[in-house]
Amino acid sequence: MAVVTSDFGVYVHVPFCSRRCDYCAFATWSDRHHLHDQYLDAVRVDIERAVTEGRLVEATSVFVGGGTPSLVDPHRLADVLAVIPTVADVEMTVECNPESVTARHVEAYRAVGVDRLSFGVQSMVPHVLVSLGRDHETTDVKRAVSTARAGGIERLNLDLIYGASTESLDDWRTTLERIIGLGPDHVSAYALTVEAGTPLADDPARHPDDDQQADAYLLAEELLSAAGYGNYEISNWARPGQECRHNLLYWDQGDYLGFGCAAHSHLAGRRWWNVRTPERYIAAVRDRASTEAAAETLDGDRRRLEGLQLALRTTAGVPRSTLDAEDLESLGDLLVVDGDRVRLSVEGRLLANEIAVRLR
Ligand SMILES: C[S@@+](CC[C@H](N)C(=O)[O-])C[C@H]1O[C@@H](n2cnc3c(N)ncnc32)[C@H](O)[C@@H]1O
Ligand code: SF4
Repeated sequence: MAVVTSDFGVYVHVPFCSRRCDYCAFATWSDRHHLHDQYLDAVRVDIERAVTEGRLVEATSVFVGGGTPSLVDPHRLADVLAVIPTVADVEMTVECNPESVTARHVEAYRAVGVDRLSFGVQSMVPHVLVSLGRDHETTDVKRAVSTARAGGIERLNLDLIYGASTESLDDWRTTLERIIGLGPDHVSAYALTVEAGTPLADDPARHPDDDQQADAYLLAEELLSAAGYGNYEISNWARPGQECRHNLLYWDQGDYLGFGCAAHSHLAGRRWWNVRTPERYIAAVRDRASTEAAAETLDGDRRRLEGLQLALRTTAGVPRSTLDAEDLESLGDLLVVDGDRVRLSVEGRLLANEIAVRLR
């Protein structure tokens, strides 16, 4: 799917979870459920102000992420989404944890234009799910997928994590086969990352092994591509035409506004992020103060280079001229040269960061 440069995204952050997974460093809290309503009211007011002030005209994609958006009352979340002005064919995604999705959620979301759900599945092997500290079971995933489809939301992404120390390559194969069996149109598979400050970081015995993660990645590419999913960014596979428009906007350095605590925004090279806690965000909106915590503006060259680094991770690739002849030669099979464009080969995707630093 081609990216239209006039695309404009809206991100809404929901910072609540039933409990914190021990590998997760996202801005989310499991002890602030009393704030759900106040928080959603603040997000709605913040969006309404952006509309009134002409900062938000029409969104082409909306992504509600977390935390666990499906944890808050779906009708209250729908009230927030309803005030976002959108184009007629907007893509609207809500991230959901499988155990918390009901027909009531799907109905409330769909009524305000949600056409895509992204489920945090992570694994389809019970002992791996337990070791990741997840609240759901594999049966919840099957039920959530059927509930979404029965309620009329067909566009589904399933998020996976590979590389837990308890996960064998056979376990990972089982997860991929079961996921493919569910027939989503989009799959994201992330290498388990050790994030500083998490309980996982403090427990080296459970840290993932690089070689095993590389094998797991290659298996994902093999099985997903054989099942008709095309890799369009290192960690993302989609059936033709089902690429996530909101993700494409990020990777194309598009413009977007983020609402809610810790949400990031970007407009024409300036990017900023909101205060981190829900309390501070609620207070800022109440006091009509800025919700911004900090900002940075990229100069032309840094922006150009970042654009290349992002593009290298996608099937769009980069112009051949952005790599030295020597690098083109030495990187050999890690690259696929296609006319004046260069893309990463499957093996190259495993070394994307090392290759990205050579772009000029
Ligand atoms: C922040 S979560 C929000 C969605 C939902 N709460 C969930 O957990 O599925 C979005 C995705 O980030 C990924 N993720 C979170 N922490 C990660 C980590 N340390 N390493 C790799 N992936 C991670 C998971 O695949 C997860 O589905
Ligand atoms: S449910 Fe998702 S957002 Fe919440 S702690 Fe776990 S990984 Fe993080």
